[in-house]
Amino acid sequence: MTIISRGSPTLLRHFLDLRDLDAATLRAIVDVASAVKRMQHDRTRPVHPGRPLEGRTLGLIMSKPSTRTRLSFEIGMRQLGGDVAILSPTDMQLGRGETLADTARVLSRFLDALVVRTGERSRLTELAHWASIPVINGLTPHSHPVQILADILTFEEHRGAVRDSHWAWVGDGNNVANSLIESAARFGFSLSLATPPSMQPAADVVAWARAQGARITLTSDPADAVRNADCIVTDTWTSMSDEESQSRLDTLKPYQVNAALMAKATPKALFMHCLPAHIGEEVTEDVFEGTSSVVFDEAENRLHAQKGLLLWALGGDNWQSVARES
Ligand code: CP
Ligand code: NVA
Repeated sequence: MTIISRGSPTLLRHFLDLRDLDAATLRAIVDVASAVKRMQHDRTRPVHPGRPLEGRTLGLIMSKPSTRTRLSFEIGMRQLGGDVAILSPTDMQLGRGETLADTARVLSRFLDALVVRTGERSRLTELAHWASIPVINGLTPHSHPVQILADILTFEEHRGAVRDSHWAWVGDGNNVANSLIESAARFGFSLSLATPPSMQPAADVVAWARAQGARITLTSDPADAVRNADCIVTDTWTSMSDEESQSRLDTLKPYQVNAALMAKATPKALFMHCLPAHIGEEVTEDVFEGTSSVVFDEAENRLHAQKGLLLWALGGDNWQSVARES
């Protein structure tokens, strides 16, 4: 059994956005994720006999629905030997007005890390401000960084190194798009985003990525964005933080990923979607079910990516040693 001492609060490994970590650390998280996936798929031996996170407990506060994020953290933590506490915000005193500051300080005395999915980004940052344990962004209306770790892993499994590849985002310039932009800067690939002019990604995220030297192109023309793309990514047209409306769907109609659009990319272009998908809206069934689609690998890779992230956040200085055993 590996014993890991609790880190100094000044060195807390929060994961609020991809830009908070340097390129080498993000690279290492994806590499560790890839190694733990290999270990898991090797049925001839136990997955993590060393139980590297034994004695550690991860809390999850999910204020919005989740299938993949919740399961990947829950199962990933258990596979690494740790425990999980699922906290329903409505059952907590938080739901009756206990402050985020007090909640964060109390949870920090019980837990070793906390995943938060919230409809308000400021609630995540406030919790992180007061917590003395790592806080992980499990999705806000602004960003979804844990998703993108899985996307990078998925691309590299199918197409090799992500550096210098070209990606296209087609649809709403939403939270997933914002995190993809940050990853383009950190992992060194170019990204064209085709969105309606009224639904562009966050301007400060684009400006930050460009200032890092990232090649980010904004256009309203999907055909323009997918030209030479090695990977085409889309997402739901109505995110959890959006009001459902017909006019929103009408605005996004020209941004559907269909066979005609895929044909304008490189012949080996992958199709990715973080899920849940709305077939017939942002993507057609033939693309979603077609040979370019890697959406279920992407979903599985949430588990492995989250294990890489948990090891980084909680595994101490030797967090990469698990991967060296593979
Ligand atoms: N992609 C994703 O985050 O899925 P869930 O909403 O199911 O967690
Ligand atoms: N953009 C979507 C992602 C869901 C995982 C949403 O925020 O609802």
